[in-house]
Amino acid sequence: MAEIDPVQKAEEPQQRSPRSPTESPTAPAQSTFQQTQADIVAHQAQTTIEAAHDSEDAGYETDAESRASTSISSSVRDFAFENGRRYHKFREGTYQFPNDESEQEREDMKHAMVVNLCGGKLHYAPLENPQNIIDVGTGTGIWAIDMGDEYPSAQVLGIDLSPIQPAWVPPNVRFMVDDAESRWLHPLDSFDFIHIRHMNSSIKKWPKLLTEAYDHIQPGGWIELQELEFVTLCDDGTMKDDYTVYRFLTLIKEGLAVFGVDLLAMRRNAELLRDAGFVNVEEKVFKIPLGIWPRNKTMKLIGLYLRSVIYDGLQGIALGPFTRALKWTPEEVELFLVDVRKSLMDASTHSYLPFHVVYGQKPLNA
Ligand SMILES: C[S@@+](CC[C@H](N)C(=O)[O-])C[C@H]1O[C@@H](n2cnc3c(N)ncnc32)[C@H](O)[C@@H]1O
Repeated sequence: MAEIDPVQKAEEPQQRSPRSPTESPTAPAQSTFQQTQADIVAHQAQTTIEAAHDSEDAGYETDAESRASTSISSSVRDFAFENGRRYHKFREGTYQFPNDESEQEREDMKHAMVVNLCGGKLHYAPLENPQNIIDVGTGTGIWAIDMGDEYPSAQVLGIDLSPIQPAWVPPNVRFMVDDAESRWLHPLDSFDFIHIRHMNSSIKKWPKLLTEAYDHIQPGGWIELQELEFVTLCDDGTMKDDYTVYRFLTLIKEGLAVFGVDLLAMRRNAELLRDAGFVNVEEKVFKIPLGIWPRNKTMKLIGLYLRSVIYDGLQGIALGPFTRALKWTPEEVELFLVDVRKSLMDASTHSYLPFHVVYGQKPLNA
């Protein structure tokens, strides 16, 4: 494990601005209107998403932007390049997706999507004055930074294989390059909250990771897992059997399986937490619309986020699993993605992806 040197980090050309909850697109002020919106979204996300009539399409638009990548030296902070995309170098090949600027923007958009869906909440576990928090696979560190702002008296540590986090962060937030699937060197019983989000495409041995997490949480402390389930579902019969997005996600799942990753492992998250020894395990499942088909404005925005997250990231998502595992050529991948893009933009298909939030507590007498 390697702590990121703030002096070295300050020299990186890829610094990003610190965010506070008020600056973040994801931290809604709690006006009555917004609260009502949040209630409607929470209700629809857990029951049925109401589709807009054709005439109501607000025509949200998005554009994808590709930026040049940078390279820096020194072991854990080196990068690897493949098919024109930048990947992590530390434990190279462990994670199948890029870490360049466009991928980071996509990760931040995913954060905005989730926090909007959750009415501004960064977690559902009933935390009381947490002091020592770890974010496993922190990515751009956006959740850790927001958490540091929300709990100024807590210390928040984000760990990741990639040193892509910003240098200017709240004083109580720090980052470390580390492999979460290696033995944890943190003190036992030390964290009072462990957060793991969007890691299903990464982790190979969930029971081992959750046992490490259990051993390192204080008795009474909480763990929370938040994961998208990468299958498209539909409640109103508008999704055809040959829906290309569905096929795309199935192929990604098959590709990741070659590397020992079960993309749908999250279906068993509640059971996995109980097996690891956690109690008071609760699960919430939300529906995240794919595209701008919902009638409710916030739902439509969340759907736009999800569509953009997949559309903008298509190449980055596909290249690793398709070329490394399924042995497609980059040209074959690009050709297939043309159809996936068309399918993603088709607002007459009212598809959605489930989003699972599961949290549990280490027993007080453990
Ligand atoms: C899909 S991103 C999720 C980022 C973040 N959790 C979020 O929700 O914004 C997955 C992140 O996990 C990191 N990762 C993958 N495998 C890891 C491992 N074994 N240990 C630490 N980080 C890992 C990747 O580098 C990537 O930044």
